Amino acid sequence: MSNEIMLERVESIMKSLLDEVEYDEVTRLFNTLSGGKRLRAKLIFKIANTHEDAPLLSAIVELIHAASLLHDDVIDDATIRRGVASVNATEDSKTAIMLGDILYSKGFSSLVAFDKDIAQCIADSVTALSKGEMMDVVMSESFNDDADLYLEMLYFKTATLIEAAAKSAAILEGKDASSYALYGKNLGLSFQIIDDILDIVSDTATLGKPALHDYVEGKCTLPYIYLYQDLNEQEKQKLKSLHKKELSSQESLWIKEKMNEHKSIERSFALAQELSNDAIAVVDDADLKVIIETMMKRSF
Ligand code: FPP
Ligand code: MG
Repeated sequence: MSNEIMLERVESIMKSLLDEVEYDEVTRLFNTLSGGKRLRAKLIFKIANTHEDAPLLSAIVELIHAASLLHDDVIDDATIRRGVASVNATEDSKTAIMLGDILYSKGFSSLVAFDKDIAQCIADSVTALSKGEMMDVVMSESFNDDADLYLEMLYFKTATLIEAAAKSAAILEGKDASSYALYGKNLGLSFQIIDDILDIVSDTATLGKPALHDYVEGKCTLPYIYLYQDLNEQEKQKLKSLHKKELSSQESLWIKEKMNEHKSIERSFALAQELSNDAIAVVDDADLKVIIETMMKRSF
């Protein structure tokens, strides 16, 4: 099955699962969502390409992912998602939360069609990503310069669902679950590091959301942590004083210039590259290599 046909299949399963809710408002709201990259669905298809249940598993994971983003936009007060206005902006936060609840529970109830180990793996990852979101919010309250703690949070928030997608697809297809889980984990971590880099180097139009926004929101992402390590005492205080503040264009420029000087973006990219290389090393699969390479080169 070609990528396009399989993605259409996933979209139509998601739609029919939501039609089962039998409430036009749900269908209407779901149709306003932009699909995004469907990275997790593509991954499941590549790993379990011959299995008849791969489309349903992909649809479940994408429903859970979409639900988590609906809730995340409420938590982050974000007005743009995947290049279009977020549901909390076009409707309101209550609607975004309720739609998220429907997507999430519909995905979960569909999990009963799968073996227990697959259902357990996906269910556990949702607890983990909820924990990661909570860690992210708590950590955003104050300045953080601990790279390991940051990477632990990233693992929970972003990598666990990708890890679970890869692992459950491997279980479905009878492949080695732990290798594919490791691939998914590293793909997820490097994916989020690239996301954090793009927040700094991209413009708003390309990104589909405001640029340089993470630090304003309080998120000390890897480039900021690396920059902090390399600054002198006075500069360290300046960077800290800008944390969680609306930045003037002069302040944004200072951060970018300092990151240039200390190669903070390059250092972050190097870690993403290292994780990607580790991911490729555990699975001998040309398609999965392409997924990683495409992800590393993305600009939004
Ligand atoms: C985006 O992070 C957020 C996530 C990847 C996970 C969000 C998880 C939850 C809200 C908990 C789970 C909830 C349900 C209903 C399953 P980000 O804010 O760093 O990225 P962004 O720039 O794309 O918003
Ligand atoms: Mg967010």
